[in-house]
Amino acid sequence: MSRPLILVTGATGKTGGAVARQLRGLDWPVRVLVRSADARARVLADLGCEVQVGDLFDPAVMQTAMRGVGRAYLVPPFDPRMIEAADLFLRAAQEARLESTVALGQWLACERHPAFETRQLWQMEQRLRGLSLGVTLVAPGFFADNYLRLINFAAQLGVLPSLTGNSLNAPPSNEDIAAVIVGALIDPDRHAGRAYRPTGPQLLSTAGMAKEVATALDRGVMRFEMPMWLFLKAARMQGVPAAELSGFRHRVRDHKQGAFAFHGLTDHVERVTGRPPEAFGATARRYAALPEARVTFASRTGAFLDFMRTPIAPGYDLARFERDAGVVAPAKARYAMQDPVWKASRERLARDAVLTA
Ligand SMILES: NC(=O)c1ccc[n+]([C@@H]2O[C@H](COP(=O)([O-])OP(=O)(O)OC[C@H]3O[C@@H](n4cnc5c(N)ncnc54)[C@H](OP(=O)(O)O)[C@@H]3O)[C@@H](O)[C@H]2O)c1
Repeated sequence: MSRPLILVTGATGKTGGAVARQLRGLDWPVRVLVRSADARARVLADLGCEVQVGDLFDPAVMQTAMRGVGRAYLVPPFDPRMIEAADLFLRAAQEARLESTVALGQWLACERHPAFETRQLWQMEQRLRGLSLGVTLVAPGFFADNYLRLINFAAQLGVLPSLTGNSLNAPPSNEDIAAVIVGALIDPDRHAGRAYRPTGPQLLSTAGMAKEVATALDRGVMRFEMPMWLFLKAARMQGVPAAELSGFRHRVRDHKQGAFAFHGLTDHVERVTGRPPEAFGATARRYAALPEARVTFASRTGAFLDFMRTPIAPGYDLARFERDAGVVAPAKARYAMQDPVWKASRERLARDAVLTA
């Protein structure tokens, strides 16, 4: 039987990139939607992906992207209007009579959360339930990538910046999240109507992660608890956009309140893929092999100068960003762990892996 074409959005990003690579590795036909025809798009074309350039907020682009497609993966972009992009995608998928779609949501998704991203992903979850096509929700917690993105500081200077104190998480790797998404895309009969929260195999604090990173790098590494104001400056220096940090700073609060340790170990990676999830140490070894973690005199000096420069670099005024973007927070906003409705729905998701109200 011929395999249907699969549309992958966010293919230059963390999960979409891994999904496109894994699907091509299994010889599935893939169309990727990317924002620009840059070097990253050429890498995807070299993998055998059909590349379409366009914006998720453009209805005509979404209609073209769905043409001839049987199944699709939605990555809602970090944007104060992200629900509009999700709606356009889902409408186009219905109109094109797709067989199934997989949407990336968020473990925290709740109605009155302080983060616009988390509220809008909650809205997306509500919309998914009313669709006439097969839907799988993948709702991860805090990715392993969030801790390992700063591995260059550990490699060069022996410090692993941490924002989350002693709170625990079993962070999933991008590859395991993608493997669950790929499982759902290639076998919709088994996974439609399901919701998964991929996790790693072990709950760790950043002190435990620093030990794993030290082993991966084969050097001493100390956890350094970084205040949020300093992190925002470092993130801006690394080019992380305000729209992403707006929600991130709230997710750190949820992390400290235990929202990722809540039902923090699931068997969903194994349920979908048939193999256990990757341990954090194994993920750390892959990041330790990246060029930015290679130590030379120049890279160490550069990291040291960046570290010293960070406190005087410009940060972000996220409250102003949100005001300018027209984001209105609910009057009585509350974090996930303060929301009994969220807790009940997430308990069910972790246990039964079903997409329910
Ligand atoms: N990080 C976490 O811990 C975490 C946890 C749970 C859920 N999530 C969810 O994960 C999602 C992000 O997924 P990710 O980490 O896989 O992606 P990512 O690495 O943040 O990359 C975002 C992707 O979307 C593309 N994109 C952004 N705006 C676009 C637009 N207007 N039109 C077309 N493409 C656009 C980007 O293209 P460019 O490369 O050109 O920018 C990139 O490929 C968010 O919805 C977030 O809520 C994240």
